[in-house]
Amino acid sequence: MTPTARIHRGTPRNLARLAARLRAGGLVAVPTETVYGLAADATSARACRRIFAAKGRPANDPLIVHIASLRDLARVSRPNEAALKLARKFWPGPLTIVLPKTGEVPDIVTAGLPSVAVRMPAHPLFRRLIRLAGRPLAAPSANPFGSVSPTTAEHVRKSLGSRIRDILDGGPARIGLESTIVDLRDPSRPAILRPGAITAVEISRLLRTRLVRARGPGRGKAQAQAAPGRMARHYSPRTPLFLHPRLSAAQVARGRPDEAWLFIARPAGIGGPNVFWLAAGGDVRGAARSLFSTLRRIDEAGFRILHAERAPCGGLGDALNDRLTRAAARDPSPKRLRRP
Ligand code: TXA
Ligand code: MG
Repeated sequence: MTPTARIHRGTPRNLARLAARLRAGGLVAVPTETVYGLAADATSARACRRIFAAKGRPANDPLIVHIASLRDLARVSRPNEAALKLARKFWPGPLTIVLPKTGEVPDIVTAGLPSVAVRMPAHPLFRRLIRLAGRPLAAPSANPFGSVSPTTAEHVRKSLGSRIRDILDGGPARIGLESTIVDLRDPSRPAILRPGAITAVEISRLLRTRLVRARGPGRGKAQAQAAPGRMARHYSPRTPLFLHPRLSAAQVARGRPDEAWLFIARPAGIGGPNVFWLAAGGDVRGAARSLFSTLRRIDEAGFRILHAERAPCGGLGDALNDRLTRAAARDPSPKRLRRP
């Protein structure tokens, strides 16, 4: 299908129009500092149902609710002291907090869970849009379910452009990986459900507690309900991906031309159309920023397989490795993933 969605610049007039569309129950793809999101009125079940339909997302995968002021946190959730501490320190920014929900949030948003995931994004255009819409906005990443998250307006147009009408362009995403998700339903047992740019070390330092390790993906329904984004094979490119601790020039030399190689830093002494890297000097921020767009480019080039290497552990490297591991996961066990 040909993409028919329009990409809008963030002029005051366009923002006012897009806010009106959101108030009327429509969908708008929006820029955030992490990845592009597909937004709808979080207080309207009808509007949020459209998100699931456009993405082909199973109903058991809850949405993140985005707010523009701390006052709105209590509108959608019941915050505790730990949550307020994290919010004051890291918001606006790439941190999502899971808390008990209020009646303001329809069940479809939280997949029937009594908890809601809340984030105050940092991108100025998205923040302005939330304010103009006058309500919290639910927004998952703006990609078809299970595929690579979009980090530019053009990525959104290519993958969802025939299913939505409006995309707000805010430039390339500054961080490039989805937000860190921390579960604070029980503030005495905070847990990281998805690693991101705000690290476990930063969170546990601020809360002065150890973080409970969330269990691995794919352990049945209970687990899928506690942290659906932890399902294996999320963020997947089409090209089968094999993850290696490290890649070397010798491996590339032994490989075939239809195999692609993805390094973290630019490798010395080798090159060619099948050799890719995430950041020339290997800095992890640059690598995170370009991961998803590089996976898209490799998909478009049509290689038979992709060999990728892990990032150095720690900090943002852990988030990068989390996405690479998921991209490398095979056999998605579709029954478990699709069951509503
Ligand atoms: O950076 C981001 O978080 C981006 C931008 C658009 O804000 N959003 C994003 O949304 O990555 P999405 O839908 O791709 O991932 C949301 C994940 C769900 O898959 C689930 O893991 C988790 O958030 N989540 C949402 N509500 C939850 C809840 N009540 N309890 C536990 N996890 C929840
Ligand atoms: Mg997503």
